[in-house]
Amino acid sequence: MIPDKAPGEEVLHASGDLKKQAHIPSFEKYKELYIRSVESPEEFWGDVAKDFFWKTKYTGKFLDYNFDVTKGEIFVKCMEGATTNICYNVLDRNVHERKLGDKMAFYWEGNEPGDEKTVTYRELLQQVCKFANTMSSCVKKGDRVSIYMPMVVELVVAMLACARIGAVHSIVFAGFSAESLCERIMDSQCCILITADGFYRGNKLISLKLIADEVPWNPEVDLCWHSLFGGASEECEPVWCDSEDPLFILYTSGSTGKPKGVLHTVSGYMLYTAATFKMVFDYHSDDVYWCTADIGWITGHSYITYGPLANGATSVLFEGLPTYPDVSRMWEIVDKYHVSKFYTAPTAIRLLMKYGSEPVQKYKRTSLKILGTVGEPINPEAWQWYYSVVGEKRCPVVDTFWQTETGGHVMTPLPAATPMKPGSATFPFFGVVPAILNESGEELEGPSEGYLVFKQPWPGVMRTVYGNHERFETIYFKKFPGYYVTGDGCRRDKDGYYWITGRIDDMLNVSGHLLSTAEVESALVEHEAVAEAAVVGRPHPVKGESLYCFVTLNDGINYNQKLEAELKKQVREKIGAIATPDYIQNAPGLPKTRSGKIMRRVLRKIACNEQDLGDVSTLADSSVIEQLFENRCCTT
Ligand code: PRX
Repeated sequence: MIPDKAPGEEVLHASGDLKKQAHIPSFEKYKELYIRSVESPEEFWGDVAKDFFWKTKYTGKFLDYNFDVTKGEIFVKCMEGATTNICYNVLDRNVHERKLGDKMAFYWEGNEPGDEKTVTYRELLQQVCKFANTMSSCVKKGDRVSIYMPMVVELVVAMLACARIGAVHSIVFAGFSAESLCERIMDSQCCILITADGFYRGNKLISLKLIADEVPWNPEVDLCWHSLFGGASEECEPVWCDSEDPLFILYTSGSTGKPKGVLHTVSGYMLYTAATFKMVFDYHSDDVYWCTADIGWITGHSYITYGPLANGATSVLFEGLPTYPDVSRMWEIVDKYHVSKFYTAPTAIRLLMKYGSEPVQKYKRTSLKILGTVGEPINPEAWQWYYSVVGEKRCPVVDTFWQTETGGHVMTPLPAATPMKPGSATFPFFGVVPAILNESGEELEGPSEGYLVFKQPWPGVMRTVYGNHERFETIYFKKFPGYYVTGDGCRRDKDGYYWITGRIDDMLNVSGHLLSTAEVESALVEHEAVAEAAVVGRPHPVKGESLYCFVTLNDGINYNQKLEAELKKQVREKIGAIATPDYIQNAPGLPKTRSGKIMRRVLRKIACNEQDLGDVSTLADSSVIEQLFENRCCTT
């Protein structure tokens, strides 16, 4: 890497070697292609589409849409009239047309070192066909299938089997509680649930089936994977789907507390995940790629399953934790499989950073070429550690900004083309047109800060909130007609680089997982001791943000440690372990406006012990403030 200086800020470039073979070797090439992607999307994406099999070609416009609520219903349609099958494209095409049958699709690495398994493209296709045949006795095209499984190959098999028969998968992260699982099953009206007995995460056994059994479900209808699997045929004709047929639903936190079923459709998602994977990780056929995310989140959907398989890539599928059995596990795996492209979250980087460079340097890591991050803003310090210690200044870092809703990367460096600035997601991916708006909805030019929005769709953008199109329009399109609103704040610097500043709605990002404050508050007030709750984020050195909860108890109830433990358990059981509060503070009074609205801005300052509260003239009773500062939680 050749460091360069831009006024006041460090800019880093990829090495000549990387540029030589890269798909997008220079910033000039990026700019040229970017203009083409925006001005002629049909041509740009037409080139991507050539790599795929289409049963029938599209008939209408390549991309048809309305992003303006004042002009009618919001919609996005990509390649309408075309028929295809994404499972066929990521498996059969690789096995039969591209002759990759013997190529490894996954190196599965279990929680316990030494517990490992491999699956080739041919084997994966066989397993998917068998499972698709098995499922087709009770599931048909368009039906929703809920999947609640750990990071095992069978999870990939289950999701691709759904795609093969045109069923819509709805994967629920295996860390969610029975109640969260139930809510998602009910909302998407799933006809079956696919789950596993259990799995180990580190030393902890998670009994998934026991959790799933709490869901209102008739045990008489439970069927065992292995016994079903045995007799099924390995031949299964894919069901040809329309471009805009639903592919999957994935729930993400909504600011009202009710999760939103983000719906993605077949063709646009396929093109977008394939293209972003290829260009953002500069994928080449000899790469071994490893994304440490869980398939239960969008990162796993797009960049463990669909994007890599569409490219015929070999990936590591890891069941365990970065710290088990010790904090060198990641680098041990990198050396074991000669991982060349590595993708993880800032929270994992910060966690490992705490242990210093020695556990990293125990392993060679010479295979690494590109490092990626996703999930939350990466602080420059963590970026530098990742770049210097993990990548030894050889590997560009791609800081990829995107969302469950965007389907794939939307703001990201391209490793050989984009000069990097630590902490900046840099520039838009092809076809993506960002803007920064002020509160009045005016587009800001030059260096500025405001709401990050997008002006036109790209093929992989979500199509609706499952079962509630009005909610989709309200959340993403009503605030600023004509734009898709991300909910994130953003700054553009003098060189045009974009810096994501974090959520500007009532969402928190804990270890890269989005949670809504309303969701946690409603779990707390369901406890009989709690009259009212208000939840805010407090910066955390590893998790990014931690949950700081203020609770007002019902009359006559005393706050004590037992109650605190009960409240934490309550949230864990209602939502899942990721939502466990770090701090709970007894708040006999909450700061409210005269109209009764809780002033979260003030609570955030109290949580951080910032004495300067700004303007509190609208506060109904200012005496609560002193008391809240007195009762502050200093430790977990
Ligand atoms: O706030 C942004 C943050 O994560 C949110 C999306 O969360 P989710 O839908 O769960 O998807 C996470 C994985 C794609 C965004 O609205 N976020 C994600 N990546 C970044 C980020 N914030 C800053 N920089 C990123 N690279």
